[in-house]
Amino acid sequence: MTASGTFGFGIEFMEYGDISALGAVVTKSITLEPRAGNEPPRIYETPSGMLNSIGLENPGLEFFKEKILPQVVSAGATMVVNIAGESPDEYGEIAGELSADDGIAALEVNAGCPNVDRGGMTFGRDPGMLADLVAAVCASTELPIIAKLTPNVADIVPLVEAAGRAGASAVTVMNTLLGMSVDVRKRVPHIKRGKAGLSGPAIRPVAVRMAFEAAQTGVPVVGAGGISDLDSAMQFFLVGARAVEVGTWNFADPAFIFRLPGLISDFLEQQGETNLGAYIGSLKSG
Ligand SMILES: Cc1cc2nc3c(=O)[nH]c(=O)nc-3n(C[C@H](O)[C@H](O)[C@H](O)COP(=O)(O)O)c2cc1C
Repeated sequence: MTASGTFGFGIEFMEYGDISALGAVVTKSITLEPRAGNEPPRIYETPSGMLNSIGLENPGLEFFKEKILPQVVSAGATMVVNIAGESPDEYGEIAGELSADDGIAALEVNAGCPNVDRGGMTFGRDPGMLADLVAAVCASTELPIIAKLTPNVADIVPLVEAAGRAGASAVTVMNTLLGMSVDVRKRVPHIKRGKAGLSGPAIRPVAVRMAFEAAQTGVPVVGAGGISDLDSAMQFFLVGARAVEVGTWNFADPAFIFRLPGLISDFLEQQGETNLGAYIGSLKSG
């Protein structure tokens, strides 16, 4: 699957491969009203990663539904719409407007954007608030819900369990890791808002560890964070993730995600496995 915010709405990447062959295209977070996002600079390259503070820039629900969604659906992509809001009611309202009839397979609930003043990480850091959010979304739609969690917590397990109990079919682990970088000569942060979300290979070991912990709960896990090659994708499967998302690497190599399914099949054959399910969670103790 593509990771939200790193693959546009899918159509932008059609020159690199067949988006209908991907597990799913996960959209940029959609909010009720259009958002211009944060003031630049809002992207900064760091060792083996990047900081971003986009601030949920998107064209809003109505434009997305009318102008964008039909194009992606007609390209044959399995669509997962990522949604964001400032209150459980607002998330519920957006969810209520999106259904399987529109060609959508599932909703991913962004419960951990580090780059906004309202909403954002507040939901994803408290099990009770997260449960209320997931329940509000589940009550508004028949679609399966994937709760996307923030890693900016001491312990991810209570959050995974809360999301699962509230009705989430799966959790995505993880969103970006809160970071900061500063210009030592100009004496200002590299990102206008100061703190920002770190992504890319730099965060991979943190993401693998959190996906491992999350998978122990039995709630299905979608692994994300720093996938940039076959081995890094397989690490998530081995620790128990049932699917993976590729994010920042889409900027470095936009064709990689289209090669990944074939690389996984070849790898499984070499490992003597008939299917991915048998490999998932088959980690031995060291
Ligand atoms: C530029 C950029 C924009 C992002 N926008 C969103 C977003 O709108 N919603 C969301 O849930 N996650 C967003 N993310 C987080 C990614 O979907 C992903 O969870 C995170 O980057 C970790 O994966 P990666 O290391 O493969 O990029 C964004 C990440 C980047 C780099």
